[in-house]
Amino acid sequence: MANPITLWLKRVLPHTLLARSLLIIVMPLILLQVISTWVFYDRHWSTMTKRLSLGVAGDIAMVIDQRAFARSEAELARINVLTLWNTELQAEFHKGEILPNQPAVDLVGTFDDILRDALRERVRRPFHIHWPEGKERDVLVRVQLADGVLDVVIPRQRLFSSTTYVFILWMVGSSLVLFAVATVFMRNQVRPIRRLATAADSFGKGRDVADFRLEGAVEVRQAAAAFLQMRDRIRRQLQQRTDMLSGVSHDLRTPLTRMKLQLAMLGGSPEVDDLKADVTEMERMIEGYLAFARGEGGEAPVPTELNELLSDVVAAARREGMPVDLRLDGPIRLPVRPQAFRRSIGNLIANAGRYGKHVWVSAAKHDDSVEILIDDDGPGIPSEQREEVFRPFFRLEGSRNPETGGVGLGLTIARDVLRGHGGELTLDESPKGGLRACVRLPA
Ligand SMILES: Nc1ncnc2c1ncn2[C@@H]1O[C@H](COP(=O)(O)OP(=O)(O)OP(=O)(O)O)[C@@H](O)[C@H]1O
Ligand SMILES: [Mg+2]
Repeated sequence: MANPITLWLKRVLPHTLLARSLLIIVMPLILLQVISTWVFYDRHWSTMTKRLSLGVAGDIAMVIDQRAFARSEAELARINVLTLWNTELQAEFHKGEILPNQPAVDLVGTFDDILRDALRERVRRPFHIHWPEGKERDVLVRVQLADGVLDVVIPRQRLFSSTTYVFILWMVGSSLVLFAVATVFMRNQVRPIRRLATAADSFGKGRDVADFRLEGAVEVRQAAAAFLQMRDRIRRQLQQRTDMLSGVSHDLRTPLTRMKLQLAMLGGSPEVDDLKADVTEMERMIEGYLAFARGEGGEAPVPTELNELLSDVVAAARREGMPVDLRLDGPIRLPVRPQAFRRSIGNLIANAGRYGKHVWVSAAKHDDSVEILIDDDGPGIPSEQREEVFRPFFRLEGSRNPETGGVGLGLTIARDVLRGHGGELTLDESPKGGLRACVRLPA
């Protein structure tokens, strides 16, 4: 059992290389920002705001104390004017008024708390902080004095610094720019890897890899070069195998023809007839193999409408008198080697027609695969022999009688061709009673 946390992490963390590398870049960036914002806010901004508030509160206390010593209305007025000039605070006295009983602040926020604490510390009288509506730049502080209420309008810029937001804005903005630049660069790094993956995938499906070239970082180039070498080696090996086998088959034909001639001159005894039949069968086997090897080389995959191809093959089988049902399920377009593909599907339909009375062919496209089913109502193949029949020249009947069938290469060839397309051919029991050949190709 895997650790549930590991499983959860696996599910949550991004899966593509691009997303992962961006995460690796972005995570420290965000962490750095959070830490520096926190340090800035906690150590710098709040201390500074506290000092500013204390300053303003001190000014207000100063005004109040000055007023206590004033002996005339004129002197009071002068104090107000001087206050405005020197401290930007606008003071106005309302004689006889009493502050209503209410909390000291309108809003509750860090800033109000700081100002409230400062006023409590310096003014030491009942007060009320009020944020006047429509006047975004001011704060109104009302202080209860012995004979009335003193209103002091404070410009907000005396209380806190507006550069804080600029600081955060710069930080967020610059990291967004960094992130964008990183995304562009990382995408360029990831692209060659993605191309290599696509190329390897296409090659596995027997398709051509158009204009694949070495690009990207050294490691990616190395992997791509290794892939190209491997591809060429595999191609060479396949070619060599086909060339060798067809060479051998071809060379066997000459002695066989000679043997046939000699047998013809021996006249007709039962032993000679048996030998003749054997030689004829060998000849057929070799012809069968040569026909296969000839079709192997050189054909390039082309985008094909699978439905058209299947309809063609089925039509050909019907012309030979086979009752074939064809069921197609929406258009399917795939790059295939048309001749070879046609032959392998043809082989499967021929088998079904030979061993059954009726043949059903259907094709359907799934998410990432295409499935072609060929069913018949014949005797089927016992499950323990469903792999053996793929062996070259293997035939269930055992007899080598040409009337009852072919040479036993049909399934071998079909599977070889389909695997060359990155697909697979399997045999199964058919719901129709006979054998089901199931072709599965990568879409
Ligand atoms: N649809 C089927 N129903 C029952 N048996 C089958 C079916 N298809 C194939 N077989 C068995 O599998 C054997 C191998 O099939 P394969 O197509 O390779 O050779 P073949 O049909 O005998 O000859 P060839 O196809 O080369 O002319 C057949 O001889 C037959 O015994
Ligand atoms: Mg066959």
